[in-house]
Amino acid sequence: MSLDSFSTALLEGKSPNFPPEANSLEFAKSLDAQDDLRHMREKFNIPTKGSLRRKTLKPAPTDTTSPDDDEPSIYFVGNSLGAQPKAVRIHLEAHLDTWASLGVNGHFTSFADSPLASWQDMADDCATQYVPLVGAASKTEIAVMNTLTTNLHLMLTSFYRPTAERHKIIIEWKPFPTDRVRTRSPPPTPSLPTNRGPNGQHYLSTASILATLTANATSTALVLLPGIQYYTGQLLDIPTITAHARSLGIPYVGWDLAHAVGNVPLSLHDWDVDFAVWCSYKYLNAGPGAMAGCFVHERHHRWDKERLEGWYGAALGVFEVVEGGVGALRRKGVVMTGWLVWLLDGLVEGRGGGKVFEIITPRDPRERGQQLSLLFREGVLEGVAERLVARGVVFDVRKPDVMRVAPAPMYCTFEDVWRFVQILGGALEGV
Ligand SMILES: Cc1ncc(COP(=O)(O)O)c(C=O)c1O
Repeated sequence: MSLDSFSTALLEGKSPNFPPEANSLEFAKSLDAQDDLRHMREKFNIPTKGSLRRKTLKPAPTDTTSPDDDEPSIYFVGNSLGAQPKAVRIHLEAHLDTWASLGVNGHFTSFADSPLASWQDMADDCATQYVPLVGAASKTEIAVMNTLTTNLHLMLTSFYRPTAERHKIIIEWKPFPTDRVRTRSPPPTPSLPTNRGPNGQHYLSTASILATLTANATSTALVLLPGIQYYTGQLLDIPTITAHARSLGIPYVGWDLAHAVGNVPLSLHDWDVDFAVWCSYKYLNAGPGAMAGCFVHERHHRWDKERLEGWYGAALGVFEVVEGGVGALRRKGVVMTGWLVWLLDGLVEGRGGGKVFEIITPRDPRERGQQLSLLFREGVLEGVAERLVARGVVFDVRKPDVMRVAPAPMYCTFEDVWRFVQILGGALEGV
């Protein structure tokens, strides 16, 4: 019953065979006790039940208090906005102090006791930290700048080179809204590599994607797909799809890694990806508005065609202290979601008979990251969500019927998983 053996089984796509006693708080505690990453949680500010209820920045004397004010929430929105690393405040203060004390000289010097590089080295420093996170060959394949959407526009400006014969951009049927980037004429002709799942969700089978690429091989100028699909949480087979496109002579393959970076191991260089873009506020915990990143394979660095360039960066220090990096997070994370699926399976049937919700994320742990998407029976989610919020659970909803939960292994515990399932079970009473 070791965390390690569950992890190994799940990563091999085998059943972890959770024993009957896995349905207990003791089991959660035994997994937490085996977790080598458990010290990471202390490095984060997890919103408390009290702070989530507060209406002012600092507690006001007129606030009513509750006995559970100091209890941490169950923060399951790594897919949306990661929790705040405590180091961020220290880094921001160092940044402001440097600016106040050195002014423009902060570009070239950094204080001996500062956690920050001088500003002119910051982009490089940050790109270096990204190398293992995205599997780049070196920092020169990475630029830290802008937002994901802006970077995507920049990438398409460089990589989308339509000709009369090759002009299609293959994207998923229902991409994240801002991924539907408008390009110069002639307009792209998106193809639709999706299978409809049993409840109308958009499930992208690798076979159907490969078939779409093959069918459009001579007319496609560019493929743009999500590493992890934002709605279902499905992890796509990036190396297989990229290699297939390459073998067909499709010129460029790019990936939106908003939900994949910091969540699953990536080897963009070895997978021969042309370009990728990502944001840093989800599983990388860099904060709202933090700079995004992009990857351009080194084979494109000697480029004689028109392209756009940029610079600058922010810090990713917490990943440096995770021994084993994203691989270690993945080993823990796959058990968190594997066990969560196992526990949720026990809640699927409502009191009145019939399914109350369905997990629309792939069942095979190798085809998902930390996010599970729960599609509720029509009309159920709103009331359930209200009850969860009242009990201090933080998650997100894609209206009308999908709840997304993502326990980030960096700072969530198995006990959080257990408590979440108990609270959800209570919220479903009578449904
Ligand atoms: C899959 C995906 N792509 C793109 C974006 C947009 O990113 P931004 O608004 O930071 O540019 C998001 C944001 O959540 C996303 O989930």
